[in-house]
Amino acid sequence: MSERIESVLQEKRSFSSPEAFKAKARLNDKMAYNRLYRQSLDEPDTFWGNVANELHWFEPWDKVREWHEPFVKWFIGGKTNLAYNCLDRHLNSWRRNKAAIIWEGEPGDQRVLTYQDLHREVSKFANVLKGKDIGQGDRVAIYMPMIPEAAIAMLACARIGATHSVVFGGFSAAALADRINDATAKAVITADGGFRRGSVFPLKPAVDEALEQCETVESVFVVKRGNNDVAMQAGRDHWYHELMDEVPTDCPAEPLDAEHPLFILYTSGSTGKPKGVLHSTGGYQTYTYLTSKYIFDMRDEDVFWCTADVGWITGHSYIVYGPLLNGATQVMYEGVPNYPEPDRFWQLVEKYRVSTFYTAPTAIRAFIKWGDAWPKCCDLSSLRLLGTVGEPINPEAWIWYQQVIGNGNCPIVDTWWQTETGGIMITTLPGVHEAKPGSAGLPFFGVEPAIVDVDGNEQAANDGGYLVIKRPWPSMLRTVYGDDDRYRAQYWSEIPHVYFAGDGARRDEDGYFWIMGRVDDVVNVSGHRLGTMEVESALVSHEAVAEAAVVGRPDEIKGQAIVAFVTLEEGRLGNEDLRKALLQHVSKEIGAIAKPEEIRFADALPKTRSGKIMRRLLRNIAAGEEASGDISTLEDKSVIEQLMQSG
Ligand code: PRX
Repeated sequence: MSERIESVLQEKRSFSSPEAFKAKARLNDKMAYNRLYRQSLDEPDTFWGNVANELHWFEPWDKVREWHEPFVKWFIGGKTNLAYNCLDRHLNSWRRNKAAIIWEGEPGDQRVLTYQDLHREVSKFANVLKGKDIGQGDRVAIYMPMIPEAAIAMLACARIGATHSVVFGGFSAAALADRINDATAKAVITADGGFRRGSVFPLKPAVDEALEQCETVESVFVVKRGNNDVAMQAGRDHWYHELMDEVPTDCPAEPLDAEHPLFILYTSGSTGKPKGVLHSTGGYQTYTYLTSKYIFDMRDEDVFWCTADVGWITGHSYIVYGPLLNGATQVMYEGVPNYPEPDRFWQLVEKYRVSTFYTAPTAIRAFIKWGDAWPKCCDLSSLRLLGTVGEPINPEAWIWYQQVIGNGNCPIVDTWWQTETGGIMITTLPGVHEAKPGSAGLPFFGVEPAIVDVDGNEQAANDGGYLVIKRPWPSMLRTVYGDDDRYRAQYWSEIPHVYFAGDGARRDEDGYFWIMGRVDDVVNVSGHRLGTMEVESALVSHEAVAEAAVVGRPDEIKGQAIVAFVTLEEGRLGNEDLRKALLQHVSKEIGAIAKPEEIRFADALPKTRSGKIMRRLLRNIAAGEEASGDISTLEDKSVIEQLMQSG
């Protein structure tokens, strides 16, 4: 928290929305945005009360907000149900037979679920859960491939008031076990396996391995997808399709308190194990509903496609909840973008006439590398709006996205937000604001961000500092599951009386925010957030490793790549075999996404006299730069020389 943040990006271009888009956009003038934005800050109760009233409430709230720093409540006393708002609300209208999810599996199989179909499947699965004594107050882990049943599982939990905890299917058995245990989950919903890059990746065997370390799980529900062989433990494990045959289709949505815990989603921080970010119902539904409506200008005629996985917050808010709250039609895809060929995404856009496409900068950089010929072979003329999320986008990738994918016809919304924020916080509104490549843009309604120094003093225009949010918003995380102290320490203590996002940023003279990346020990690899601490603990748990320090270095495609500096126990040799064994070990402990790009063996790590590892120096060394800044506190200067030669 003490290093000065300097911004080096100088980007002067700006792009207005194409006239054709603007003419039809839900919001298309700056005055309207300014008026609504002002109202959202000056009269938040009226503003958010009006939005929430567009959704269904079994009982009205008594009070819109209650704020006792750092704990907030929204719509106090109100009773609602998120699954009801996503599904039942549309059944009394023509949307009943509208496609909710158009799904394509990686092998090319397809399914379409209308709102009515989805309602029926969710209600049935909710009955299955109830049949196994799962209900309000229980936690359910979901470990699934990208198939409609992942969304059905989440919505079924929301329907009966069970709190879901989705664990990304790429995490290992050990990481799954940690998350199940932290949440003391009563059940796991999984599949035999899913398709990825042309073959089946098994999931159920990882669940079996995880459950050897978990005492609380009573039931496991297994969807048949990969057709791979799996073991079923009698009494505990059940085939989804068998139970679904036995239950009635009717399951009324439970009226739940607005502050009922909707889900836990684990994410990395700078210390300790991943933390369970807890979101609740009424505020989250109101915020994801409104952000989807305005930022994606979501219309009944649209075909929306967010390429994220449901294992991340983007999949929660902008695959499952936001689009369904708005009665949208969306595409859901199981596999990777380059199977069988690097044009798979563009084939899907052409086939389903996708109109809004939302993806990550890392994917865009991969598309650029694969070459323009792939998108150019497909008809992308249905696209009208493009979005990005997850990391800063470099201006050249932004321009490529606009030209090659959008053909110059689509606004781009660069959306800054986090697992903790629940929904998009900073972006341009597509029919209203000019976009500046590389800048996320302006605050969304109700969001009051600022750039401050370490003492909380606001910085002048264009001066770098810490990004903070000065007041609570409806979809703010409520706490870290089971650990209010950690919640307070992580988000509300670094800088007094504001939410500390963990990012460095600057705000330019037009009020646009430019995000510069994390200021803590979190690395963002291909849009996946990983704590360097977690990777270090995984490495150190290997018998050959004495000490490990993990840093990020810039990477052309992934944004950041992981570099690990490792010292070994006496008598161990840092050779190729050990390097492979360590990569394997990290995969087993966390998952393949956390595997270091590079492992450097060293005799010692650079430390201060008080024994603190000097990561700043390691970051320089990993990036192949001269060690910069003050090294007077370094205990043994020869260490640097040796590390530089280790690469
Ligand atoms: O550093 C910021 C970066 O991703 C972090 C949040 O990661 P996660 O909780 O995994 O959520 C990602 C999806 C919402 C942020 O602290 N980040 C996210 N969006 C952007 C971004 N950095 C720059 N520009 C963005 N649009």
